[in-house]
Amino acid sequence: MQKKRAVITAVDHYVPDKVLSNFDLEKIVDTTDEWIRTRTGIRERRILEHGATSDMAAEAARRVLANRGLTANDIDVIIVATVTPDMFFPSTSCLVQDKIGAKNAWGFDLSGACSGFLYALITGAQFIESGMHTRVLVIGADKMSTITDYADRNNCILFGDAAAAVLLEPSENMSEGILDSILRSDGSGGKYLYMKGGGSLNPPTHETVDKGWHYLYQDGKSVFKVAVIGMADVSAEIMKRNNLTGKDIDWLVPHQANLRIIDATAERMELDKSRVMINIDKYGNTTAATVPLCLSEWWKAGKLKKGQTIVLATFGAGYTWGSALVKWSAEDAKV
Ligand code: UT7
Repeated sequence: MQKKRAVITAVDHYVPDKVLSNFDLEKIVDTTDEWIRTRTGIRERRILEHGATSDMAAEAARRVLANRGLTANDIDVIIVATVTPDMFFPSTSCLVQDKIGAKNAWGFDLSGACSGFLYALITGAQFIESGMHTRVLVIGADKMSTITDYADRNNCILFGDAAAAVLLEPSENMSEGILDSILRSDGSGGKYLYMKGGGSLNPPTHETVDKGWHYLYQDGKSVFKVAVIGMADVSAEIMKRNNLTGKDIDWLVPHQANLRIIDATAERMELDKSRVMINIDKYGNTTAATVPLCLSEWWKAGKLKKGQTIVLATFGAGYTWGSALVKWSAEDAKV
């Protein structure tokens, strides 16, 4: 069988209209715009007022299909990376499948937190490379506002809502598409970033709700220390094993959790800041959506072009982290 490469042929995103700025948060918790900006790089984030994760995911999916000139019936698989599914079951993937009318598709949700999109992208690529499927929608979508405690200043300043998606298709050109990946996990880090209640360990009760266990908990300092090393390590490693230097990389596409983590990763890769995709200032941390949201914005602006070499890098709850080396294959956007 002819070997195949999985390539990204289309990208798009959906962000809600409502903006929650640092100044808005100053009125809710004891914080300042200055503290948030200097510690994280965030100025504002988006909040979905009505609807659920599947609504944002479905809209991102529709936009991807429109860009590629396809209908929902052309899709074989839908993978939704999310930690804020509409409900435990059915999967958000099934809800999206129904909402967009993808009658020929099967799919599933993937729980990889901030590395969810990267995990899903590499999983989706396997269906293409094996020859099993020809069109896989990979969506990163999170409505973080539903698991954020807006009385907790440590965390409520960080997160926002968004969805973004890419389409994977096969190519016989082995020098484009998803060229390499490094995926890692370390469950011993689970205790530093989690949602304690609502699952089979601590099913929801009045007590779990009173204790706020239905909200995200993060020990930011501990996560920061590991994230800054983890994301830089896998980015440097993927460059080294592909004999690349900073000059060979057109864009670093990092998970957007903290500008200081992004800067440290770029520095380790010896990459000029002008070649790092950063939109944390506008959206905060949208968990599974950050990486495809960057791809989509840069592609639409005409800055991410066909043939460019990019490195995706993530770190998140689990711990989960990883990197991917990608030769961008979508036709250039009409700017
Ligand atoms: O996406 C998944 C992976 N997640 C990450 O990668 C996040 C990693 N962690 C971080 O990005 C950072 O640790 C945070 C942005 C969460 C926190 O920044 P930090 O520089 O580590 O601050 P800190 O938690 O050490 O807090 C420093 C001080 C504390 O006061 P004291 O104890 O020094 O008096 C906090 O109480 O800042 C205080 N503080 C705040 N002050 C104003 C914490 N949150 C706030 C706030 N506004 N919102």
